[in-house]
Amino acid sequence: MGKGVFVISRTVGVLGIVLVAAGAATIIALSVVYAQEKSKNAEAVPPTPPATSTTTTRGPASTTPTPSNEPWDQYRLPDTLRPSTYNVMLWPRLTKNEHGLYVFTGHSTVDFKCVKDTDLILIHSNQLNLTQIDGHLATLTGLDGATAPAIRTTWLQGATHYLVIQLSDKLLAGKSYQLYTEFTGELADDLGGFYRSEYYEGSELKVLATTQMQPTDARKAFPCFDEPALKAVFYMTLIHDRNTVALANGMEIGTINTTQGEVEVSVTTFEPTPIMSTYLLAFVVCEYDFIRTPAGEKVLIRIWARPQAIAERQGDYALEKTGPILQFFENYYNAPYPLNKSDQIALPDFSAGAMENWGLITYRETALLYNNKTSSNGDKEWVATVIAHELAHMWFGNLVTMEWWNDLWLNEGFATYVSYLGADHAEPTWKLKELFVLSTVQGVFGVDALASSHPLSYPPGEINSPEQISELFDSITYSKGASVIRMLSEFLTEDVFKRGLSTYLNAFAYQNTVYKDLWKHLQDEVDKTPGLQLPGSIEEIMNRWILQMGFPVVSIDTTTGNISQKHFLIDPESVVDRPSVYNYEWYVPITWMKSGVVQAPVWLITKSADQSPMKTTDWVLVNLNIAGFYRVNYDQGNWERLLTQLNADHKVIPVINRAQIVDDAFNLARAKIVDTVLALRTTQYLSRETDYMPWESAVRSLGYYFLMFDRTEVYGSMQKYIKKQVGPLFKHFENITENWTKIPDGHNDQYNQVNAITVACKVGVEGCAELTLGWFKEWMKDPQNYSIHPNLKSTVYCNGIAAGGVDEWNFAWKAFKNTSSAAEADKLLYALSCTKIPWLLNRYLQYSLDPNMVRKQDAVFSIVYIAGNVIGQPLAWDFIRANWKFIFQSGGGGLSFGRLITGVTERFSTEFELKQLLDFKAEHADMGFGSATIALDQSIEKTKANIKWLEENKEKVDEWLTAAARQQ
Ligand SMILES: *[C@@H]1O[C@H](CO)[C@@H](O)[C@H](O)[C@H]1NC(C)=O
Ligand SMILES: *[C@@H]1O[C@H](CO)[C@@H](O)[C@H](O)[C@H]1NC(C)=O
Ligand SMILES: *[C@@H]1O[C@H](CO)[C@@H](O)[C@H](O)[C@H]1NC(C)=O
Ligand SMILES: [Zn+2]
Repeated sequence: MGKGVFVISRTVGVLGIVLVAAGAATIIALSVVYAQEKSKNAEAVPPTPPATSTTTTRGPASTTPTPSNEPWDQYRLPDTLRPSTYNVMLWPRLTKNEHGLYVFTGHSTVDFKCVKDTDLILIHSNQLNLTQIDGHLATLTGLDGATAPAIRTTWLQGATHYLVIQLSDKLLAGKSYQLYTEFTGELADDLGGFYRSEYYEGSELKVLATTQMQPTDARKAFPCFDEPALKAVFYMTLIHDRNTVALANGMEIGTINTTQGEVEVSVTTFEPTPIMSTYLLAFVVCEYDFIRTPAGEKVLIRIWARPQAIAERQGDYALEKTGPILQFFENYYNAPYPLNKSDQIALPDFSAGAMENWGLITYRETALLYNNKTSSNGDKEWVATVIAHELAHMWFGNLVTMEWWNDLWLNEGFATYVSYLGADHAEPTWKLKELFVLSTVQGVFGVDALASSHPLSYPPGEINSPEQISELFDSITYSKGASVIRMLSEFLTEDVFKRGLSTYLNAFAYQNTVYKDLWKHLQDEVDKTPGLQLPGSIEEIMNRWILQMGFPVVSIDTTTGNISQKHFLIDPESVVDRPSVYNYEWYVPITWMKSGVVQAPVWLITKSADQSPMKTTDWVLVNLNIAGFYRVNYDQGNWERLLTQLNADHKVIPVINRAQIVDDAFNLARAKIVDTVLALRTTQYLSRETDYMPWESAVRSLGYYFLMFDRTEVYGSMQKYIKKQVGPLFKHFENITENWTKIPDGHNDQYNQVNAITVACKVGVEGCAELTLGWFKEWMKDPQNYSIHPNLKSTVYCNGIAAGGVDEWNFAWKAFKNTSSAAEADKLLYALSCTKIPWLLNRYLQYSLDPNMVRKQDAVFSIVYIAGNVIGQPLAWDFIRANWKFIFQSGGGGLSFGRLITGVTERFSTEFELKQLLDFKAEHADMGFGSATIALDQSIEKTKANIKWLEENKEKVDEWLTAAARQQ
């Protein structure tokens, strides 16, 4: 899935980092990670009253919930049947029925082959009311002369999502059969399966039907063998209102007008799909417009959106970039795009960022639409990288698919990595390959430094239930997956990596694989490349990165030339109770430079080794461009030399590594490997730094200080020091923008302009508040004509609302409700959390759970933003505690529960807060925390670490900041 869980928008993300603090990882994960609504205890579909023709029976098993070892109590399907073809007809109703429900009806056949004799058919079906036919919930016929045994009994096994069919005789291996079902389902606004999304066109409410199947919701749309390895061909037919258009994975073959009973409808049929997995299915019925590539191109590309968005040309950017990115991947994979069309559609309600359905990619509006009046450069980058991420899946993931969800990390990590390559091809001036380090590597270091982290790869048997599968969609899977794949590609060289990848994709097209299949194909290429020296096979090297959690800190001692490694834990006292056969040691590729000159790379494959060229009195810098997934520490002498170099001429050190020095130092300090004062000293040179990446790293690192100190007396000296450091940056941008009348040319300069203003305003640099308030007031005076530059909107709105009162808030709320641009709405969603007035924040919290006020997909974001505000923090925590049951049961969204907990507890740093958190865990233990289970434990761990950190560092930091603020 796309950066689904990705950020709501990149700009908000950047701001959120300062204000929501420590939020980099959270926000990125939010946008990329996937959050699907699902109710934890999906219940058996209750029996339908004996009315009309639709009735449901409930079998004995579902009324006796005693655990058993019956096949229908297992989450995994038995290996007895393999589907080959489905024929599915669906008819969504976009108006309520007489019971006030939106529903869809349908019928479906599946042809399957029996591979082992069995008298039991298990097929997934969840929350569907199946119609009785001849006394059973399905009918069975034999194919190709096979005789179907009679059905003995059928029932729905709710907990495991099965339609169970017991036969009076055996299906025979080698024979094929066909199963037929008829069903009704609710077209709910639950963002999963076949669901409903709504928007207003003027004052008219429009309803559309769309899908989100990944990972386990195809079974909510029609009965199917819903596991990724059970690939089949799908023939789709959609019945729909005549004023709507119907889309599916395959190209439309034709639409005819007809009637169903009294109702005038259209019927659209589609080309059969290639052999594919159920989780990649998609169908949409809507009143959208589209733009397309000219006729005659090999691949038809269409961008679909609300008619108003198309009219405002918000789809143009996506259309312009999709072709080049597809071509880039054809070259990169050395394999043609497998389909004849690529539809991409922007949906008003969508849980993830986007979803790579084969041939019909679905997006959040902000991930596909670009509006040059309201979208910032970050929003634009978001669009380019999400499109690239989803297109990358068309081969990697869709054509060749993981055997089971335990290998999700490979699918998502890979797509996340190559999305930066694809987007870089489309936007070569943006330096996206460098930005990858900020967005992805540094973001996930924080999560993976916890003892409660987890390995990238699980044994298949450990992942079974839908909740376990949902929990995999986290930042470890996406960002660490991407980081270690980038490391692999770097040490193999891109050429070798691409060649292995290409043979892998060609060998396994339309099939399923495990990650070792990729290793094997890469290894074959390594073996054919004589010059490439590795310390072991790819499997030996990579197992250490994917089968054990965490990553090392590599320590360089330039006085002896010794290098060594150690599992990096942000809290050195935390206990790692997950054993690893590799003893938390890694094979580490060491790239390095000495006084600015790049040296021959080496590998560290033991705990410690002597590397005599590193015994030197020059400065040594290790992990160039952060190609390796590890942090670096040095002896004090080398740290001093690096600091001296930064203060004398920082440009000698590559920009990514300037960012790394800051980021590593702050994190090593938190882990008590270096002194906190050393970390603070890495920020001293920033008064002369104008580049984005080091500033961004500092802003994020200091984000932690804001969180820990903004409720304490240390805040005064902290503000003073940061003010002194950011003042020159603010002036720099004032100059190069000709007194704020222009926007800098460079993509990264544009980002850093926002940092300059945001940080300057936060710490009270003279002129900043006047500047942003001035813009905000102008906008309030003349909202139709006055336009704040989109890059600056988030920070200007936030500062305006923070300084203002009820009128400013209400004005922004109205703008939020009225805008037709999702990018604009996201900025306002964030800015509304900036007010300092408690009752406004409380009201906003209330709104967040009311789908008429805040879309469900955004609810978690608004609560987390409010918690990022120092005044909103306790309010949000009280609110969550008071409403947890409701939030949890109404489905705040699978993975986003985790983000919610993480976001709201980010500032926790007192014993009292720890106790509250533990009480909260105990109080709801019976209901469980579903996909937030790990996040809750991580929050507890982080709170403990924060308490300790404050005890040890508060005075020291205060002293240093006070002195540094005074220095000239
Ligand atoms: C399914 O059946 C139940 C029980 O009769 C009913 O409450 C529910 O509304 C039905 N769902 C749909 C979509 O018709
Ligand atoms: C079907 O009906 C719609 C609406 O009445 C009309 O616009 C469309 O042209 C018709 N299509 C065909 C194939 O007749
Ligand atoms: C925004 O897009 C419109 C429509 O494509 C175009 O006419 C206009 O010049 C663009 N404005 C800017 C500032 O790029
Ligand atoms: Zn993905």
